[in-house]
Amino acid sequence: MDHKVFPRYSRCEFIFHFIEKDTSRHHRLRTELRQFDPLPSNVKVSPHHGEFQDVIEGVSESLDSRNRRLAPTLAFVDPFGVSGVPMELISKFLDSRKCELFLILMVDHLNRFLSAEHMRGGRDSLFGTSDFSEVEAAPAGERIPLLVDLYKQQLCDVAKFQYALDFEMRRASGTVPTTWSTPPAASPESRSSKTLCGRVEVASQVWCNGGVGRRFGW
Ligand SMILES: C[S@@+](CC[C@H](N)C(=O)[O-])C[C@H]1O[C@@H](n2cnc3c(N)ncnc32)[C@H](O)[C@@H]1O
Repeated sequence: MDHKVFPRYSRCEFIFHFIEKDTSRHHRLRTELRQFDPLPSNVKVSPHHGEFQDVIEGVSESLDSRNRRLAPTLAFVDPFGVSGVPMELISKFLDSRKCELFLILMVDHLNRFLSAEHMRGGRDSLFGTSDFSEVEAAPAGERIPLLVDLYKQQLCDVAKFQYALDFEMRRASGTVPTTWSTPPAASPESRSSKTLCGRVEVASQVWCNGGVGRRFGW
């Protein structure tokens, strides 16, 4: 909160929305956020307790009712699994040239359960399509890059993002397979591993849209 940008842009308002559906995690989040008090006068923090979709729809409706558009936004979406983040919602909410999305796509989880009946609804909604024929036709070991490409393609086709870049997160052990990543110049920091039924879960991050691409010269 002592970042120099806050006083420098003293006439701008910086709003941080946090969305957490789990009650105990939401309480913990509020506790963590209190550490930053007192906030600079042009910074507001808003921890929401609820489903991502409901909160985002509420914010959109509030803006619509006041005939306002979303301010330039960086949305960091980091759910567990694949449900609750529909492409349709991403498309509608970030429908502005100055909005950017940084999303963690749980590709290993998707790959394992690609055609499982219980995953289909969440999978199709996340990607905004039910056509996974190309991915399903590929050998299991080659599906992950296809899933990442499909998600990026959908971001461009459905949500009209101008740019999409993917890179993979590495565990501290550095054991993540690297056959498909397109790392940016600066790699993301290592994170602790997540395991799923004894397997390391691979997450791909997709970062996209015009503003950030132009700034970084991609
Ligand atoms: C992977 S963790 C987030 C970790 C956090 N980004 C970090 O780096 O510390 C995912 C969190 O999102 C919450 N979550 C998952 N799906 C959600 C949804 N649809 N709506 C709201 N919260 C959700 C989970 O309860 C969980 O606390």
